[in-house]
Amino acid sequence: MQNNLRPDSFERITTKALADSFIEEQIKLIREEVGDKKVLLALSGGVDSSVVAALLAKAIGKQLYCVHVNHGLMRKYESENVIDVFQKQMDVNLIYVDATDRFLDLLKDVSDPERKRKIIGAEFINVFAEEARRLEGISYLAQGTIYPDILESVKQAEGKKAVKSHHNVGGLPEDLQFELVEPLKLLYKDEVRVVGEALGLPHGMVYRQPFPGPGLGVRCLGAITRDRLNALREADAILRDEFDKCGLAEKVWQYFVVIPDIKSVGVKDESRYEGWPAIIRAINTKDAMSATIEEIPYAVLHKIVNRIIGEVEGINRVLYDLTPKPTGTIEWE
Ligand code: XMP
Repeated sequence: MQNNLRPDSFERITTKALADSFIEEQIKLIREEVGDKKVLLALSGGVDSSVVAALLAKAIGKQLYCVHVNHGLMRKYESENVIDVFQKQMDVNLIYVDATDRFLDLLKDVSDPERKRKIIGAEFINVFAEEARRLEGISYLAQGTIYPDILESVKQAEGKKAVKSHHNVGGLPEDLQFELVEPLKLLYKDEVRVVGEALGLPHGMVYRQPFPGPGLGVRCLGAITRDRLNALREADAILRDEFDKCGLAEKVWQYFVVIPDIKSVGVKDESRYEGWPAIIRAINTKDAMSATIEEIPYAVLHKIVNRIIGEVEGINRVLYDLTPKPTGTIEWE
């Protein structure tokens, strides 16, 4: 573990020039280590895995194999975006797996949040492992481990209380043990973003807000149904669109929609009908351990409300969650 610690001489990457020299050095190191072997990467489209993909694509080109698993709990256009950037623009080997039915079938009638998380995590490993077995001759597994993950592991190894376990592709079956390539393991998140931009990744991908591994699965509260999940995806896309347009996307750490498994009476076309409420949450935080509420101007709120009730099938109310953490956690599940 000690060897993984960042040396005092490591200069913080704050500029494009520093990022360029980090990239150059990593390309050399990666080529030396990997040689002509093949490298596999689980590419979720999150900041860390995206930057690793772009860096490895530059270093070893077609020796890199990325697997993008769509668990059906992605935000709107998220998988399409991954395909567009990595397959179409960067010409990376990308295996796209639409596993929506597998995940949603397993999650049917499951309402306990921790069970939902376990099912999603375990099935992700299953799908990824199947793809890894199909690809012959893979020697390395690339991971988007960053420095806070390393520090967290050091803390765990020292027996201190861990804040959060990190979310890399741990737990692969024994027949799939690869050497690890972790080119971002000495970088903090802000440095990863600078490197990502220097690699030519789109700004929106590099500065994207954190999105939990189980995705919309923990925002479609209780037992997930396809219709409520679709409503959630549409409402969330509207919130993001309006935050982009008014500049809040740059200021707010995390903002999203939650849909609980309850209905209330509403009125449409002069008749009563039951619909779900969409709950809007927008928070700011430094470390996700505590969070404050970001005030959304009324005019923006009204626009969001009108668009959600006007455009999203099944939603008849919009609520705004003003609870800080504590007492509320950031997510509802
Ligand atoms: P909470 O809800 O605990 O969330 O205040 C703190 C941060 O962690 C994210 N989060 C998760 N991320 N897998 C993840 O990768 C998860 O199961 C998970 N649960 C919460 C949450 O979005 C917030 O940024």
